[in-house]
Amino acid sequence: MSESVQEKASFIVVANRLPVDRVSGDDDQVSWRTSPGGLVTALEPVMQSRGGAWIGWHGAPDEQVEPFHHQGYDIIPVPLSSQDVEQFYEGFSNATLWPLFHDCIAEPVFHREWWDCFRKVNRRFAQAVAERADNGATVWVQDYQLMLVPQYLRELRPDLRIGFFLHIPFPPPELFSRLPWRSEIIEGVLGSDLLGFQFPGCVSNFIRVARRLPDVEGARGRVHLPDGRMVSIKAFPISIDAVGMRDLANSPEVRAEAEKLRHELGDPQTILFGVDRLDYSKGLRGRVRAIGELFDSHQLDPETTVFLQLATPSRERVEEYRALRGDIDLMVGRINSESDSLARSPIAYRYTSVPRETLAAMYQIADLMIVTPLRDGMNLVAKEYLACRSRNDSALVLSEFAGAALELKQAYMVNPYDIDGMKATILKALNDPPRVKARKMRAMRKQVFEHDIDLWADSFLTELESD
Ligand code: ADP
Ligand code: F6P
Repeated sequence: MSESVQEKASFIVVANRLPVDRVSGDDDQVSWRTSPGGLVTALEPVMQSRGGAWIGWHGAPDEQVEPFHHQGYDIIPVPLSSQDVEQFYEGFSNATLWPLFHDCIAEPVFHREWWDCFRKVNRRFAQAVAERADNGATVWVQDYQLMLVPQYLRELRPDLRIGFFLHIPFPPPELFSRLPWRSEIIEGVLGSDLLGFQFPGCVSNFIRVARRLPDVEGARGRVHLPDGRMVSIKAFPISIDAVGMRDLANSPEVRAEAEKLRHELGDPQTILFGVDRLDYSKGLRGRVRAIGELFDSHQLDPETTVFLQLATPSRERVEEYRALRGDIDLMVGRINSESDSLARSPIAYRYTSVPRETLAAMYQIADLMIVTPLRDGMNLVAKEYLACRSRNDSALVLSEFAGAALELKQAYMVNPYDIDGMKATILKALNDPPRVKARKMRAMRKQVFEHDIDLWADSFLTELESD
């Protein structure tokens, strides 16, 4: 494969983020690091095997960056100014659409100038794709930040095959209808030939909303538009590179790191583990409360048990995220300071992202994985944990409000709003007989290995490219 950037591409992924973020250190040294989030985890292996171009923002405001070749595909940066970051990314994407699409867990904020900027930036992304796409190319638009791109792109380049995949849930019409620009968003995304959602509930929510547009008809996975076009709409539950994750976890380096980590944690008998972006949709407040109460009542023994929680910094300038960070710091500090154990703190909490090897080592030492979002499109962490656990000797506690719950039916299921219910389920998951846990783990691992990222990408793209 050529190492130089191609002028045109026949396969393009366009997402708000590139797979790597450009970061400047204190000494003005520039480096690149993996961008946060499940979208990048899922699409990186797809691009590495298919090649093509990935168009997106490089994470640094007010900087122009030249295209470059990276791990078998081309990276085409799209610039965002500081004002775009404030209004398009932090504003409309993450303080309007994100909470609205996550069941309004936080109150969505509506500002007309954010909407204007959202439209402007979506046009910029569409323009960047239009310039790079070969005649008849396949373009795969990703996620809520770019919901207007399919329509803008179709206006510029009617020759393209355009697919769109929403990584987050699509809300019920009763919530979506609050959006002052609801028709424009739906018309924007209907510029696609194929629309993919995480689970069937999102498909029916979307069709119900689309049918409210004048002269639009929709039923059974199809929407017919007044101009005669037909858009297919279907669920494609996203997944991970399960084999890659398993092999990484079983490598000698990761095993050695796992041993070291266990030792650093004080060689506890039992390790509970959570890892999330620090996002209010992930249900961290309830999780920490439930586990804190279990330590407090000595149903979990701080002399033998540790809860390791990693939180990736995310959207740090958005008010709800700042408040969440403060709350978790306080809660963890209080639980640790009130513990009877002098030997160790019950909660080991780190606010940082770690290399994939370290994360795989953490999955290796975790006896219980706790995934408790209040709402989540899928949740790849749950699937990564399963892929890493070849010995079937552990358990997964999973929120019924994660898309993953529809596939991982054997998990210890919880309602993350029910603190007592979560406490009881955590204890059950720890204390169930090993053969019960092994049976559950085997069934869930089979699901993850048989429905991996290749199957996800192949099924979407085959459908998109077939007429
Ligand atoms: P989301 O896309 O909402 O962030 P997912 O669970 O689907 O949630 O995906 C999160 C991805 O980010 C996973 O691949 C996970 O391994 C990775 N990740 C989350 N937290 C960290 C962290 N602290 N360090 C490294 N990777 C992380
Ligand atoms: O998977 C949901 C998602 O919002 C992606 O679209 C996004 O790239 C990721 O989480 C991380 O969020 P952000 O790009 O805002 O850091």
